[in-house]
Amino acid sequence: MTTTTIAKDRVLIFDTTLRDGEQSPGATMTHDEKLEIATLLDEMGVDIIEAGFPIASEGDFEAVSDIAKASKNAVICGLSRANFKDIDRCWDAVKHARQPRIHTFIGTSPSHREITKLDMDEMIQRIHDTVTHARNLCDDVQWSAMDAIRTERDYLCRVVECAIKAGAGTINIPDTVGYTLPDESAAIIRMLVEKVPGADGVIFATHCHNDLGMATANSLAAVAAGVRQIECTINGLGERAGNTALEEVVMALRVRRDLMPYQTNIDTTKIMNLSRRVSQVSGFPVQFNKAIVGKNAFLHESGIHQDGVLKNVETFEIMRPADIGITETNIAMGKHSGRAALRSKLSDLGFDLADNQLNDVFVRFKALADRKKEIYDEDLVALMADSAANTDTDFLQVKWLRVICGSEGQSAELKLLVDGVEHHADTSGDGPVDAAFRAVDQIYPHKARLQLYQVHAVTEGTDAQATVSVRMEEEGRIVTGSAADTDTILASVKAYVGALNRLRVRREKTAPDADMKKVSFKL
Ligand code: KIV
Ligand code: ZN
Repeated sequence: MTTTTIAKDRVLIFDTTLRDGEQSPGATMTHDEKLEIATLLDEMGVDIIEAGFPIASEGDFEAVSDIAKASKNAVICGLSRANFKDIDRCWDAVKHARQPRIHTFIGTSPSHREITKLDMDEMIQRIHDTVTHARNLCDDVQWSAMDAIRTERDYLCRVVECAIKAGAGTINIPDTVGYTLPDESAAIIRMLVEKVPGADGVIFATHCHNDLGMATANSLAAVAAGVRQIECTINGLGERAGNTALEEVVMALRVRRDLMPYQTNIDTTKIMNLSRRVSQVSGFPVQFNKAIVGKNAFLHESGIHQDGVLKNVETFEIMRPADIGITETNIAMGKHSGRAALRSKLSDLGFDLADNQLNDVFVRFKALADRKKEIYDEDLVALMADSAANTDTDFLQVKWLRVICGSEGQSAELKLLVDGVEHHADTSGDGPVDAAFRAVDQIYPHKARLQLYQVHAVTEGTDAQATVSVRMEEEGRIVTGSAADTDTILASVKAYVGALNRLRVRREKTAPDADMKKVSFKL
């Protein structure tokens, strides 16, 4: 596909969950998780997958290059700053794809020019040189004017013209700080389309952050003004308040075709599954009232609403749960449910497992069923998340835990496997969770600081599973851990240990100074 020749009513979906999304503090994904998400995005019909920032670390490079090798339909894109070294590294990673793309960017607003110490003309020269260099390597080059919205309008026209002349086929106009409003977003695109020579031969893209909660609205306004590529992430994951959410723009375009007659290639029935997987692997729970994919998005609580929906579903629903792949009838499973029933139920929920994976999950399912009478869809989703996050090959593994709590004080006794060797600790603390975490720290001392500790009940009832999420920070590295169990303290310790396992992997990543979070956007 050369993206400059799409049908007039097509809008390309560019997913950056694995790059901008993964930049959210704590959302780091493992290599295998990135590969799995990329495969799901490809199967869902995403046109372009931004798979990572190859220069950022060896791990990023390998993830992008493996995703490129495995890609089937989507264009695979890597990010690079405006220098030859970044661009060469990016090309080395994406070149394995059937359809590779180099994405190169530079901050064009006054504050970014100050940081890069380039005056207006020097920056134009840099854009010319880097886009030309990228085009000599790859036919498909995307160029972004970072902080375009706060760039002087005349200068924005000049830099876009330069990038087009140098051979960029896609021009991205990001609202990097989530500052714009729909009218302004549209006006900027209209100005570029009308004024810049060569604008009719390229695809304009929008990349909106959500700092004012406007990302989806701004992206759609840009489409109405001429943009034909929306950059977005699953669940709106991304820096600070996140990015435009893929599920929101895609469903808005589908539901309001009367106002916005554009097609996307997305199989919307795969949305829910992707939302759940991204939430699990990133450790970012989806807020209950999140548009489209939140737990409450299709629930009707008030009597008037329930009555209306029963009589005519259209009274209070603008789309059907099945449109985004919610097929579950939520009939409970229990300890008598067999392997085949579990497989079929998991498949309805979007988890298609190989036999060996099913065996492992079946053992965990039976253990849960012994403790919890009825197992609902939410329980299975939590179980799958737990299986993915905490495996028996982890460096640290919780072997055994006993906690004593109550008015007489709290203490914990823990057996922890460290690289296969069993260690034992006996500690007290201010509350059972504190005592248990101290036991982990005693066996495995570390300098990480607990930044967040969150508990959610998966279903109702006192036997409900708890999902626990923790976020930890060590020398600027932020990781998350999550786990589920009917025993809240055990889930807490597993989540804590899971985060420490991830931290260890992060520490081992080469060249810490090349880490994206530290390099930031400097040239
Ligand atoms: O927000 C932004 O401007 C970006 C660019 C790198 C495209 O993420
Ligand atoms: Zn961004």
